[in-house]
Amino acid sequence: MKMIVTGGAGFIGSNFIFHILKKYPSYGVICLDKLTYAGNLSTLKSVMENPNFRFVKEDICNRAAVYRLFEEEKPDVVVNFAAESHVDRSIDNPEIFLQTNILGTQVLMDACRQYGITRYHQVSTDEVYGDLPLDRPDLFFTEETPIHASSPYSSSKAAADLLVLAYYRTYGLPVTISRCSNNYGPYHFPEKLIPLTIANALNDKPLPVYGQGLNVRDWLYVEDHCKAIDLILHKGRVGEIYNVGGHNEMANIEIVKLICKELGKPESLIKFVADRKGHDMRYAIDPTKIHRELGWLPETKFAYGIKKTIAWYLENREWWEEILSGDYQQYYEKMYQNR
Ligand code: NAD
Ligand code: DAU
Repeated sequence: MKMIVTGGAGFIGSNFIFHILKKYPSYGVICLDKLTYAGNLSTLKSVMENPNFRFVKEDICNRAAVYRLFEEEKPDVVVNFAAESHVDRSIDNPEIFLQTNILGTQVLMDACRQYGITRYHQVSTDEVYGDLPLDRPDLFFTEETPIHASSPYSSSKAAADLLVLAYYRTYGLPVTISRCSNNYGPYHFPEKLIPLTIANALNDKPLPVYGQGLNVRDWLYVEDHCKAIDLILHKGRVGEIYNVGGHNEMANIEIVKLICKELGKPESLIKFVADRKGHDMRYAIDPTKIHRELGWLPETKFAYGIKKTIAWYLENREWWEEILSGDYQQYYEKMYQNR
């Protein structure tokens, strides 16, 4: 089996590559990644020498280059993680989100049609469903929940999902889609809530919490997401959407306080700042379908997963300090100064 994994130098894609190379030693994996600000080649250093692994620096929107790669490698499966993934950046400048997340998906699927594959898997998000109110804890997103995206990021992911389903119906492309909740774990880029809070707390810097910190996310350890995609690829039904989430809802303020406690840092570091525009209130996935059909259940409890994650950031300071010392500083100032 030969697999092209796009966006594999990012957070979830890299964890997925580690999972696949370890579990299936006979598989070939080609990582196709543009190495945007969020992609980091050092993340993949442990697999660079693996003869079953190849890294290709390329943009998924570059049709000629993508076709060349398909021609050369003749992949059986494509798993598309490549995306602009940060909601705040999409609010600041939506354009690149539409290009990569929608048009890039189109290029990949056109290549799949042209060269033939057995599966195209689209890594999507629970954000395509919009949000749920805090006073209705009985409501969850199912695969039948209508798409109702809020931000430029989530609308671009929703548009891509629609296109994937259209390629299934129109051309019979063998597709699957997973819609997962918020991931956390190693190699998470420090612009996102959990790694940002860990890094700032370790540097005794203010911990920015949007609004009142009451927004709820459904956190899942990244390896559990990777295992779900693995199951969908091997046992999932073509043309289907699978929600992935662990019934682990927590308010942002709870997460930030927990990280302070784990690191022995004072809660006085917490700074409530202006809210995100159009901020989604609550995400909550109903994972019944993937459990019933494929037997998937999350394995890592949050209490253990967050300790493991914090330990990873303590042991791998050079990975995130390198990021913090670069262009990230300008991003941080723009987003958080005078907020
Ligand atoms: P990330 O931002 O950490 O990584 C994205 C990767 O894609 C980077 O390596 C980047 O270089 C690459 N990339 C971006 N544009 C590209 C392009 N045009 N061509 C080739 N490569 C490109 O993102 P992540 O958090 O790992 O998310 C991966 C996928 O999972 C995304 O599609 C995202 O929508 C989805 N998702 C993320 C979460 C989450 O909690 N992080 C949850 C559900 C779904
Ligand atoms: O739900 C899945 C989605 O989860 C993925 O599709 C996205 O790619 C991923 O980035 C993530 O989106 P969120 O917007 O939920 O994640 P983020 O870490 O940016 O924010 C989590 C919550 O914390 C959100 O309510 C905003 C808040 N927040 C975030 C940051 C960066 C803060 O309060 N302060 C911050 O500094």
